[in-house]
Amino acid sequence: MANSALSLIDVDAFYGDSHVLEKVSLTCGEGCLLGLLGRNGAGKSTCMNVTVGLLPARRGKVTVFGEDVTKLAPEAISARGVALVPQGRRIFKSLTVRENLIVAARKPTNGGKAAWNLDTVFAMFPRLGERRSQMSAHLSGGEQQMLAIGRALMANPRVLLMDEPSEGLAPQIVAEVMATIRHLKASGLSIVLVEQNPKLVFDIADDIVILNSGQVAVTAPAADLRDGTADLRQHLGVF
Ligand SMILES: Nc1ncnc2c1ncn2[C@@H]1O[C@H](COP(=O)(O)OP(=O)(O)OP(=O)(O)O)[C@@H](O)[C@H]1O
Ligand SMILES: [Mg+2]
Repeated sequence: MANSALSLIDVDAFYGDSHVLEKVSLTCGEGCLLGLLGRNGAGKSTCMNVTVGLLPARRGKVTVFGEDVTKLAPEAISARGVALVPQGRRIFKSLTVRENLIVAARKPTNGGKAAWNLDTVFAMFPRLGERRSQMSAHLSGGEQQMLAIGRALMANPRVLLMDEPSEGLAPQIVAEVMATIRHLKASGLSIVLVEQNPKLVFDIADDIVILNSGQVAVTAPAADLRDGTADLRQHLGVF
């Protein structure tokens, strides 16, 4: 397997007294795409929150390219090349498209040339370029998702976490978002794609982890799960 870009190792996490993740282990290989699946409330977003340092792991370890980041603050984890496209987009609606992107700009961790800047983001998402001076509140849902992805890319990450980027979007826009993710993967970025719909991730993921009630129920190469196995029906419902 490829070297680990991101690993959670036996992670336990709590919201107050509520034990939400129990001994969760998962790995996204360098240049690979990990599909993280699970029903509502399974703990997918909590895994993202732990990874970026918003919710400290009570037990276990998080590593980024082999470095232990478990106890680091969110800014320090971000500085090591981890960026999150949060569930629900969370763009700054009172800022313009351009301002949303500029506030997230960061030089790459390895000191190399920044691949992502306003020009390259607008080249990837021409509609954002056309609307660069508009208030983000006026964007469509699909455009807001593009902006959320563009904003994460402006940080020039090595690992990109995407939490349900297809949520609430029309099928045609979902197809555009998936094409974008495919392109980013081809560029060598390591990606964790959180989804509720397994159909969206099977073709693009290298590996799949299915969470059920805060525990890992299945870890497998995507190719092994593609045909709708009993595992999928049990943990995700019937597809
Ligand atoms: N801030 C919070 N405080 C307390 N409990 C929370 C909080 N956020 C989430 N939870 C609970 O933690 C569990 C896991 O939630 P999480 O958001 O990680 O699920 P999810 O898999 O991302 O679900 P969804 O697909 O609906 O986004 C759920 O039981 C949820 O109710
Ligand atoms: Mg979630």
